[in-house]
Amino acid sequence: STLPSSKQYAQKDGFRFFMEKEIYEQSDVVSDCMLGRIKDNETFFDEIDASIIEGIKEIKICACGTSYHAGLTAAYLFERLSKVKCNVEIASEFRYKEPLLTDDTLFIVISQSGETADTLEALKMAKNAGLKSLVVCNVDNSSMTRVTDYKILTRAGIEKGVASTKAFSTQTVVLWMLALYFAKEKNVIDNEVLQNELHALREVPKSLIVNDKIHEKTKRLSKRYLHGHGFFFIGRDVFFPLALEGALKLKEISYLHAEGYPAGEMKHGPIALADPELFTIALMPQNLLYDKIKSNVEELSARDSTICAVSPLDFELADDFIKTEKTDHYMLEFFEMLVALQLLSMEISIRLGNDVDMPRNLAKSVTVE
Ligand code: G6P
Repeated sequence: STLPSSKQYAQKDGFRFFMEKEIYEQSDVVSDCMLGRIKDNETFFDEIDASIIEGIKEIKICACGTSYHAGLTAAYLFERLSKVKCNVEIASEFRYKEPLLTDDTLFIVISQSGETADTLEALKMAKNAGLKSLVVCNVDNSSMTRVTDYKILTRAGIEKGVASTKAFSTQTVVLWMLALYFAKEKNVIDNEVLQNELHALREVPKSLIVNDKIHEKTKRLSKRYLHGHGFFFIGRDVFFPLALEGALKLKEISYLHAEGYPAGEMKHGPIALADPELFTIALMPQNLLYDKIKSNVEELSARDSTICAVSPLDFELADDFIKTEKTDHYMLEFFEMLVALQLLSMEISIRLGNDVDMPRNLAKSVTVE
């Protein structure tokens, strides 16, 4: 059932910016997004059936901007949970590289608007090559939902802030549910693992509730961080695309230079930049590769980078700390950290006096190539 979101207000409802309102809405819209899609023993979508993966050996994902980051995140989940090869490409690159397409590939595009020109053209190319296509989209009756074979709607409601927030969280949840759907259909997931995943999924809305302490902390950090000249957001596994997303948010609305990087790759170049003016935002989840990321951050700290640890675990080398809740699944940590990063970039932007909802040079929907 596609219930209209109860949160489609056109007003800011007392929030300073639409972006802030949309960050606070995430818990509710993700609940809407999951409604009717999680059963006792499986995830389920009215919009698709098992024929979608018949004969499929590979998944290819195409998207732009924040939606691309949801795709990168999903690739980890499709390989880990559904045991399907998956690769992800930026739509504007995919289009012009003469890609080799075979019809045992499921082509997934991700888009908030359903109108992004490069993503739409990538979808048409895949269709013309005879691939099955699926769009994960927030806007029904958009160009992409009209072209595709299958669609899954993210039900995030209207997103007004140019910097995408709730579109990303709903996309990621849909893709995670889809990974579990494929896993179950292909019979490649252990029942215990599946139950554990379903349990975690049901907890996502809770992880997306804005934690007042974290919001306050980001306000305090923004006072100093607005002077930062360079930011590295680092993480491993799904926390790498999350790092990319954190950096993109900061760039978009604060106009500060930020990069997302895989933590283990810092030693192959970027660590040369480390000094006290370099702010490292380190995503240090408890439930995934903690010791690995910890040693990467120790190296940066030893070279005097200023470290802001985002973690549920105390970390003595941190100059600053954003403390997330302890949970038992890395994806719950992912969503909690997502909110913290969104708030951090928003608070820095507000303190700089920028128009958070209408950042310079950017458009909500890019329908030109
Ligand atoms: C624009 C927006 C981004 C968005 C990207 C892709 O650049 O500013 O926030 O992520 O387009 O948009 P889509 O609607 O395809 O998800």
